[in-house]
Amino acid sequence: MPFENENTYLRMSEAGKEAEFHRLYEESLKEIEAYFNKEYPNIIDGDVIESKKIKDISPIDGKEIATFQLASDSSVDKAVDMLYKSYKAWYSLGYMKRALIFLKAADMLSEQKFKFAAILTYENGKNRYEAIGDVDEAIDFMRYYAMNLIENQGFIRFTGKAYRNEESISIMKPYGVFGVISPFNFFSIGVGMSSAPLVTGNAVILKPSSDIPLSLYLWVRLMHEAGVPKNVLAFVSGSGGLVGRHIVENKKVAGIVFTGSRDVGLDIQRKSIDNGPKVVITEMGGKDAIIVSNKADMDKAVEGVVRAAFGFAGQKCSACSLLYVHKDIYDEFMKRLKARTEAIKPDDPRKKDTFLNPIINKEAYDKFIKLKPEFNKGKILTGGHELNKPGFYVEPTIVTDLPKDAYIARNEIFLPVLSVFKCNSIEEAVDDINSMDYGLTGGIFTEDPKEIQYYFDNIEVGVIYANRKSGGSTGSMVGSQPFVGWKLSGVSGKGTGSFYYLQQFLREQSQTIAH
Ligand code: NAD
Ligand code: ALA
Repeated sequence: MPFENENTYLRMSEAGKEAEFHRLYEESLKEIEAYFNKEYPNIIDGDVIESKKIKDISPIDGKEIATFQLASDSSVDKAVDMLYKSYKAWYSLGYMKRALIFLKAADMLSEQKFKFAAILTYENGKNRYEAIGDVDEAIDFMRYYAMNLIENQGFIRFTGKAYRNEESISIMKPYGVFGVISPFNFFSIGVGMSSAPLVTGNAVILKPSSDIPLSLYLWVRLMHEAGVPKNVLAFVSGSGGLVGRHIVENKKVAGIVFTGSRDVGLDIQRKSIDNGPKVVITEMGGKDAIIVSNKADMDKAVEGVVRAAFGFAGQKCSACSLLYVHKDIYDEFMKRLKARTEAIKPDDPRKKDTFLNPIINKEAYDKFIKLKPEFNKGKILTGGHELNKPGFYVEPTIVTDLPKDAYIARNEIFLPVLSVFKCNSIEEAVDDINSMDYGLTGGIFTEDPKEIQYYFDNIEVGVIYANRKSGGSTGSMVGSQPFVGWKLSGVSGKGTGSFYYLQQFLREQSQTIAH
């Protein structure tokens, strides 16, 4: 299967097409201005304008780029009723036709990938390399789930004869309507979470994060153009506490697929019990740690930690926000880490050389300021300041000498802030990491295979890497590196982009005919 990740930028630059990559992206930055300063409807079969609105604000300069609707309760209910009536016809189309529509839609998204990447730079603040990686990942999710369905022949199994006069089969059928509630930090997550229930024959009501409605709105339009019927894919925007909550409380919604913070995910689980039965898949936050052994290749480790901690300004669920450095190399390693971090300046993500993007919104910026007393419970090795200019920019920040139970060392804060501890051994670091409720991603840097094996055998997190210079604890690839949270980072135990993911959207029916 042709995968896009690993990724468009790398592939084009390796093929000597780096200049073309930059030209295509920069042309798209201009072209997409045509999408700005407009009002976009909800899509509930037809276009729906509401009385209340939300603003899509760019973190680059804090300016509004588009206006979206705040869906009313009655719009959500109307959408769910429509989807509920329509999903059986979509399922009856057969798995092959549905999968082929998805493969066509993935090709369409691939053709428009620079446009979507440029939109993500504006609404999400991603630099060009991260923005294109995000769109590549979305395309991969669409292709992977479609192919997974085809390879498993829609999950139909002949189960054999129970009695001589009977024929039986087992069929995996959709549940009905899934509510998809997606986070701000990845377009691909909204696409992947919608694609899995849809391709398996369910209908979907998608509520994106209010920070990135435009990219997902355009994706829904693209899906309709590719052949997904309008009456099985609805788009409603608005705040999580109102619109998201109302989707969860609607009893005709058979399942919720959510990715976001832990508190919201747990709240959705509780509400789903009261408004169920519902299938509930909640991928939640992380407090992801990297361990640097005294047997590490230091250059590799410094680069891997910086990329993991400060890539996309620390706003990846996989971002490294906790670091354990072996005492024997601590001083030398921290000197190098400080120097490498200080070479990074937060800047406008439209610029070619920007690595450190703005953070997503004013709320995140204010949170950084509010956390300063917490930084001061340790020693600020570097950073610690916000930039006083339009948009939302903060320095990459490293804090050492914190008490073990310091707030920033134990909680996900989702900012470019790294808490560092000196450790006596790999075992001690692993125990400390395992003592937390979170269990999403992690990494180790060591040239000793025995230490890698110890780490892999004992660490209680879902996605682990050894010696990954390009990303430390981040950057999973659809299909080959399923993305799965353990413990309170995600309760389903099945990774996105994994062989096991799709079956969560299907329920088995045993069918028997007696002669
Ligand atoms: P968030 O929890 O604030 O919001 C996520 C979505 O939930 C948004 O669409 C929001 O509008 C909606 N929402 C908010 N309150 C709601 C409520 N009461 N009922 C229903 N819906 C509600 O998360 P975010 O800030 O957009 O994203 C960052 C978080 O997502 C981080 O915690 C990060 O670790 C996590 N995340 C996890 C993964 C993973 O795979 N485990 C991947 C990406 C992001
Ligand atoms: N796929 C993203 C990563 O691995 C979340 O960092």
